[in-house]
Amino acid sequence: MLEQQTLLELIGSRSFASFPANLKLVDFITQTDIKGGSVEVDIRLPFPCEGLIGSLKEELNACLSEKWPGANFNIVIKQHLVAYETKAGVAPLSQVKNIIAVASGKGGVGKSTTSVNLALALQKEGAKVGILDADIYGPSIPIMLGIPEARPTSNDKKTILPLNAHGIEAMSIGFLVDEKQAMVWRGPMASSALQQIVRDTQWGELDYLIIDLPPGTGDIQLTMAQKIPVTAAVIVTTPQDLALADAKKAITMFEKVSIPVMGVVENMATHICNQCGHQEAIFGEGGGQYLSEDYDIPLLGQLPLSMSIRELLDAGTPTVADDPDSEISHIYREIARNLTANLSVLGKDFSKGAQGIDISTWKPA
Ligand SMILES: Nc1ncnc2c1ncn2[C@@H]1O[C@H](COP(=O)(O)OP(=O)(O)OP(=O)(O)O)[C@@H](O)[C@H]1O
Ligand SMILES: [Mg+2]
Repeated sequence: MLEQQTLLELIGSRSFASFPANLKLVDFITQTDIKGGSVEVDIRLPFPCEGLIGSLKEELNACLSEKWPGANFNIVIKQHLVAYETKAGVAPLSQVKNIIAVASGKGGVGKSTTSVNLALALQKEGAKVGILDADIYGPSIPIMLGIPEARPTSNDKKTILPLNAHGIEAMSIGFLVDEKQAMVWRGPMASSALQQIVRDTQWGELDYLIIDLPPGTGDIQLTMAQKIPVTAAVIVTTPQDLALADAKKAITMFEKVSIPVMGVVENMATHICNQCGHQEAIFGEGGGQYLSEDYDIPLLGQLPLSMSIRELLDAGTPTVADDPDSEISHIYREIARNLTANLSVLGKDFSKGAQGIDISTWKPA
């Protein structure tokens, strides 16, 4: 006999391989409708989830059919993305739900690479996304998005319109000033330029704005933390000791300014030989894992050192834009889902098992 309670208990007792490990699927069931041998299960997820809908439906179907063979299951999975509270106490941007900063203590570990692919991955997963290049002294987003010569326009002489590339909105100091000109700016000038760009850009309605930060824990990062309504941060590191030590500094900085760190991305985790496919951990092993355990911060995912990641960026079509279904794109997409799933835990404690919660009317405390 099919009963709602048994169905919820069954789903609650299982873990699903394609579902983010720190959330419980049963908490996101908004409705069940059982009529004879027919069951509809409605699920609303608080993170962009396009890439897991197919596999999650399959897993759920298999789990339910095992218990009730012959029944007909109609599983509907939709996403509902909300704005989470910003801790900084600064006015939110009216059009942008959540701002996520991508940071590292050390330069050259792959922040911009991660920012661009993460932004594209969120978009492929079904979110509306923008990216802001906050690297005043060495902007790289225009090249990585294949629009180095682009110049933004204004329709009111007060605000600037972001550019569009591969389905996401983009803004960079690199679009506005000559690199040599920005190089001579002192910290405060660079910081106020950044604030102005964030606020004066006419962003569309965005679910997520990714900010690619310059390396380090200096003026720009502090301004960002104090003056820009950042929801959360992500730390990029290579497995190397040195990069890890710097990543720790970045984590500590975010702690001090009360911006929650959603996780660590380990970049260049292994090298896969183009010739023979042999995998080698040339920058050491398990660094991101160690960092996440030490600081109790989730490891969102690990990217290999791959020639194609670099080549595609240089050509202006990042991996996720080039082939959203490649193996590497799937890693970025999983990182995107893990990150935003973590964000939903931050905004609301789902651990008590709020079955039937109406996410659409819920507001962060
Ligand atoms: N996983 C990877 N595999 C291969 N090359 C990579 C990978 N990640 C980054 N790169 C390459 O490494 C270089 C540095 O990456 P990137 O510019 O993203 O680092 P960054 O941390 O933003 O640097 P900076 O501190 O200067 O802003 C780039 O040429 C990029 O193409
Ligand atoms: Mg960079």
